[in-house]
Amino acid sequence: MNAEDYHAVVIGCGRGGENIGAHSIGYVHGKTYTDNPRIELAGACDLDPANLDRFCKHFSVPYKAGNSEELLRELRPELVSICTYVGSRSALVEASVRNGAKAIWCEKPLSLTMQDGRRLVELCEENGVKLVINHYRRYLDLWNRVKQLIGCNRCRLDWAPVVHILFGGYLRSGLAVAPGTAEGEK
Ligand SMILES: NC(=O)c1ccc[n+]([C@@H]2O[C@H](COP(=O)([O-])OP(=O)(O)OC[C@H]3O[C@@H](n4cnc5c(N)ncnc54)[C@H](O)[C@@H]3O)[C@@H](O)[C@H]2O)c1
Repeated sequence: MNAEDYHAVVIGCGRGGENIGAHSIGYVHGKTYTDNPRIELAGACDLDPANLDRFCKHFSVPYKAGNSEELLRELRPELVSICTYVGSRSALVEASVRNGAKAIWCEKPLSLTMQDGRRLVELCEENGVKLVINHYRRYLDLWNRVKQLIGCNRCRLDWAPVVHILFGGYLRSGLAVAPGTAEGEK
């Protein structure tokens, strides 16, 4: 690592593997860090020791912690991924800020209430911490194509406050496709 590189930690690893009824989104965060040569995935923690062991073995993570306070205090990482459930989010964002994080990549939803969400955003702003919530689907081609189709780009949500979208053969690769037709916009 060079002096300008970053240390990252993942809080909430998940069980890993396929078809387990949960997403183990911590693995997406872990892979993002280990794919980046300027970031060291320096540590992880999970309340479930088996999940923690599996994750640390998978990504060769050097520091394992049973709780987030210890992880943040010992490593003081610049980058913190919060991949636990929503109920623990506030305390983990606060602890990350308190321990010097520069950026927090937090799973959605940020909080249980708007009030708490706003408070966390303000806390990060006041401390110069970048807070990113993982609402990544808005960037996918498919969703952007839907957005175009319903006219959101022209701010016409006044006549369509709620839009129900049915995926399943009709929309593929960002193109609307009717069954039995050549791929193309319908
Ligand atoms: N952005 C997306 O598209 C996307 C996709 C899937 C899940 N999510 C979100 O990610 C979060 C996690 O979902 P998941 O399906 O990956 O769950 P999961 O059960 O696979 O993993 C969560 C892990 O966090 C651990 N954990 C819980 N509380 C903890 C704490 N306080 N400290 C340390 N570890 C703790 C659990 O033991 C578990 O291993 C949810 O809020 C979910 O909404 C977002």
